[in-house]
Amino acid sequence: MARKVSKRKRPSRDDFLMKEYFKLESEVFDREVLLTLSKLMEKRVIESIDYPVSTGKEANVFRATTPSGSYLALKIYKIETTRFMRRKEYLEGDPRFRKFRRSERDFVYAFTQKELKNLQICEKAGVHAPRPILQEKNILVMEFLGERGLPYSPLHIIGPSSLSQLKSILHDVQKMYRKGLVHADLSEYNILVGPKPYLIDFGQGVVLSHPNSEKYLERDVRNTLNYFSRRGFSMDFEDAMDYVKK
Ligand SMILES: Nc1ncnc2c1ncn2[C@@H]1O[C@H](COP(=O)(O)OP(=O)(O)OP(=O)(O)O)[C@@H](O)[C@H]1O
Ligand SMILES: [Mg+2]
Repeated sequence: MARKVSKRKRPSRDDFLMKEYFKLESEVFDREVLLTLSKLMEKRVIESIDYPVSTGKEANVFRATTPSGSYLALKIYKIETTRFMRRKEYLEGDPRFRKFRRSERDFVYAFTQKELKNLQICEKAGVHAPRPILQEKNILVMEFLGERGLPYSPLHIIGPSSLSQLKSILHDVQKMYRKGLVHADLSEYNILVGPKPYLIDFGQGVVLSHPNSEKYLERDVRNTLNYFSRRGFSMDFEDAMDYVKK
């Protein structure tokens, strides 16, 4: 039977290593992930993992609680080859990650680190995106975007509400561009709707010296414009590009 850990008592390392404690699939919390999580607990970054916000093909996102009772988001990248290998182009063309070692694990760690670095650039640029906290192996710790303990919903679920919402997104793309960063995976799936739209999922983000950065920028803008225009909020593509590169 699963051992219960009272809320007031911090779980010991042994408690923590019992997979039953999480009642979640071992695939998500393999031994390595458990050790990394246990490190985050020892460092008092988090006190508990609360629930899965999203279980995807490449990563799982959890809400976690800090020792002071506030919430954080934990994105745990899966250690899998195939899909990540497809994403190699995003790492290899990026001068910041030229010399990553090539084991699957190292690749995923580099990808996780890249997302942290991209979020740090966003924070400096004042982009509406989760505030980065830290990266430990394949786990990214960041601000939890939500209210009353629940995450904001993605744009593809809520739907767009106005042209000014689109402008806010393009303004963020402009701020990133001015700091030399392109999201490269922008779509209604990677925008959360709070009081403002928030951009998320920056693992694929590349710096402007990446050979395909312009192509990715155009794709980001086109995806976003297409989605809004299908729902009656239209903007000219060239005008939008001029604006983000202004
Ligand atoms: N900081 C955050 N705060 C609240 N919810 C978040 C946060 N980051 C991500 N999420 C939620 O988790 C979902 C998946 O996150 P994200 O887009 O970063 O992962 P992903 O790489 O697309 O994962 P996959 O492709 O495996 O689905 C988001 O759609 C969102 O609902
Ligand atoms: Mg995503």
